[in-house]
Amino acid sequence: DGESQTMQQQQKMVNIAHRGASGHAPENTMSAFEKALEMKADFIEIDVQMTRDGKLVAIHDTTVDRTTNGTGSVGDYTLEELQQLDAGSWFGEEFAGEQIPTFEEIIDRYRGKIGILIELKSPGLYPGVEENAAEALIQRNMHQPNNGKIIIQSFNHESVQLSKGFLPNIPHGVLAGLTWADVTDEELEQFAAYADFFNPNMNIVTDELVDRTHTAGMQMYPYTVRTQEQADNLFELGVDGIITDFPEYVYGHPVKN
Ligand code: G3P
Ligand code: CA
Repeated sequence: DGESQTMQQQQKMVNIAHRGASGHAPENTMSAFEKALEMKADFIEIDVQMTRDGKLVAIHDTTVDRTTNGTGSVGDYTLEELQQLDAGSWFGEEFAGEQIPTFEEIIDRYRGKIGILIELKSPGLYPGVEENAAEALIQRNMHQPNNGKIIIQSFNHESVQLSKGFLPNIPHGVLAGLTWADVTDEELEQFAAYADFFNPNMNIVTDELVDRTHTAGMQMYPYTVRTQEQADNLFELGVDGIITDFPEYVYGHPVKN
């Protein structure tokens, strides 16, 4: 109705800094997260994986090759070994010496300051990662409803269900790549049984998919915006939030419907 539409139009587009403000600082480092906070994003998005000694860390690729001066699989390193790597120089000399941050360090620094969209990255490689992440949140009493400022998502939907079992009061999201372009209403309903968000690749978003996602009772934060034009298109399609390397592209836009 008119009144709720007005309310929704006043609702702010949720601004999610992808791997931190990764257009401005090296992804998944404290520099990128600090930059996101400074830029007043609503959330940082982080990619969580597990070391050989069972510690949770933020890094996107399953190897350290692209974003550090080391080589090899994340899961073959202990935390101590991983933290000797330089995770900043590849992006710019001014970031030399940046370390791969731990999950616990991130949640301790940012809880209450900025939302944290936690992606369990390739959880199939890390048995127990869902429970490990849940324990870190529960120890800190961060497992209670918290205005949706902690969200857990994954491309691995079994992992999302497992995590929801450990953390029933935390909102969860289903990530969907290009292969989900023809997702059915029935599949959306199945996701909605355990997820609050359906977060697709921006290239499969249509206004119809946004409507069907809302009808299924979920919100949509598509990924990954890297131009103002991409952000503008998504605003027009009525998404609820935008996952972007550049938080500045999401400033000042109201939710459309
Ligand atoms: O938050 C969703 C987005 O980060 C998924 O893609 O590859 O950047 O982790 P990727
Ligand atoms: Ca991610």
